[in-house]
Amino acid sequence: MTLLMQQPGRIGPLRMKNRLIMAPMGTNFSTSDGLSTERDRAYYEERAKGGVAAIVTEAMAVSAGGRAHNNSLWIYHDRFIPGLARLVEGSSGMIA
Ligand SMILES: Cc1cc2nc3c(=O)[nH]c(=O)nc-3n(C[C@H](O)[C@H](O)[C@H](O)COP(=O)(O)O)c2cc1C
Repeated sequence: MTLLMQQPGRIGPLRMKNRLIMAPMGTNFSTSDGLSTERDRAYYEERAKGGVAAIVTEAMAVSAGGRAHNNSLWIYHDRFIPGLARLVEGSSGMIA
């Protein structure tokens, strides 16, 4: 028997292989200047391998003063894009 949560789902145009979505959880794995790290990338890659259809990331500060923790991710400048792109690539694009 296939459980409903194992069956493909959709959120608008987004097609998902199952109905499992990882909830956001803070990791505090970024550098002190808000850049994504190898530890961060490995964390999300491992969760993606676990089989969820999508991952909602931890909070990312949209301004330099808007940070909740010393090592949370920043997303307020283009310089953060390469590291965040590696997170998405490492998790096979399942990050929301
Ligand atoms: C940006 C963000 C970060 C979060 N970080 C954590 C966390 O570090 N630990 C945690 O237990 N829940 C965290 N939460 C809450 C969980 O993702 C989840 O919403 C909460 O456990 C309630 O789950 P429920 O709605 O299934 O009861 C965070 C939520 C958001 C929006």
